[in-house]
Amino acid sequence: MADKMETIVSLCKRRGFVFPSSEIYGGLANAWDYGPLGVELKNNIKQAWWQRFVHQRDDVVGLDAALLMNPKVWEASGHLANFTDPLVDCKKCKQRFRADHLCPPTQAKPELGRMKTPPPEKPVCPNCGGELTEVRKFNLMLKTFLGPVEDATAVVYFRPETAQAMFVDFKQIQGSTRKRIPFGIAQVGKAFRNEVTPGNFIFRTREFEQMEIEYFIKEGEWEKWFEHWLGEMKGWLKFLGIPEKDIVYREISAEERAHYSKRTIDIDYQFPFGQMELYGLAYRTNYDLTRHAEVSGHDLRYMDPETNEKYIPHVIEPTWGVDRSVLAVLCAAYTEVGEAKQKHVVLKLPRQLAPFKAAVFPLLANKPDLVKLARSVYDDLRKHFPVAWDDRGNIGKRYFSQDEIGTPACITVDFDSLNDNAVTVRDRDTMKQERVKIGELMQYLGNDK
Ligand code: GAP
Repeated sequence: MADKMETIVSLCKRRGFVFPSSEIYGGLANAWDYGPLGVELKNNIKQAWWQRFVHQRDDVVGLDAALLMNPKVWEASGHLANFTDPLVDCKKCKQRFRADHLCPPTQAKPELGRMKTPPPEKPVCPNCGGELTEVRKFNLMLKTFLGPVEDATAVVYFRPETAQAMFVDFKQIQGSTRKRIPFGIAQVGKAFRNEVTPGNFIFRTREFEQMEIEYFIKEGEWEKWFEHWLGEMKGWLKFLGIPEKDIVYREISAEERAHYSKRTIDIDYQFPFGQMELYGLAYRTNYDLTRHAEVSGHDLRYMDPETNEKYIPHVIEPTWGVDRSVLAVLCAAYTEVGEAKQKHVVLKLPRQLAPFKAAVFPLLANKPDLVKLARSVYDDLRKHFPVAWDDRGNIGKRYFSQDEIGTPACITVDFDSLNDNAVTVRDRDTMKQERVKIGELMQYLGNDK
């Protein structure tokens, strides 16, 4: 399984999905850049998510908040005091570990309230068996300074989750949209955590992206809405093409839950390097809004227009990591086809997620008539969705090259095309070839973007 991970990492670099950041300077530990194909895949995931959970629902509205917020936000949310990881160092080999990662995996809960699980008695270094230091608390907030003077008054923090902006903007958004409870605020954006042990490619990084919804409800309805969002998250996983058998819904015990949560389910995926958290679903009670009302002095209660009742809404929070989505999608789609020398890789991505929806090939690059017709097919299709062009090497190699990046259809313009105005369309998954009239290509390929 570790081999599969290595193969995926190397495919990502070779084909321009994801590669180490600032590599010509030796890179920056666990920072990654999304190249031409990776940015398409990642954007397709984010756009599909937005379409599904914002555009197609009338009870969720969007937000794109500033990354840097007033530091009081993090004081009120508890991040400044409690967003810590338990850290240990090996006295012998000097490697650093998260103490909770030395516990059985079910006890490792990376979020606010991380320190709840005490490390096992007298753990030893998993690398060399050496003695470990005492556990120290390490705050994960990434600090910077605003303005030219680097003193205590200029300190601000990069947000460690997108969630808090939805809480502090709750009143503003509810007022301007006149949404009635239940309703949600959705956001997609970067978050930063000074992780002690980043790693496993894009699984745990210090700069990453989240897609989050804070869904505001009446307290008495939390169980109903928790089930609702669990169902929605299952539907999303199906859309991504992630098999149900590789997903584990892990109920987090009361001792393990963050202090604001009355129920949390972690949605784990069987990554090649082990079963790890992909997404999370939490009932955050009315903890955050209550804290922001207390610290800011603003009344964050909602007034029910029907009953005139005033109350601080409770919140169900489904949260999705973007980078972990990309990784899980790549792992689930990665398929090796054929035997020995004939073996090649097919990325069986759902069409909506594929970086290119089709590729166009002139059979021969040195025949101007063929190239001209192929170019016009390519230009027409490109008005509707991203299309690849390839005129190098034999057609078999061009098919394999597109299979490896998940292009669902390859279109070859050959000599017959000049007479019958038709092309050969080869399907990525079935490898079947069909002759299709150029005028009917759009309909044949579909247009779900
Ligand atoms: N607002 C709740 C929250 O932030 P979390 O479990 O800490 O909860 C939510 O994070 C999701 O963000 C995770 O399920 C994961 O997909 C993603 N995530 C968290 N830390 C990450 C990291 N260091 N690198 C990449 N993704 C991360």
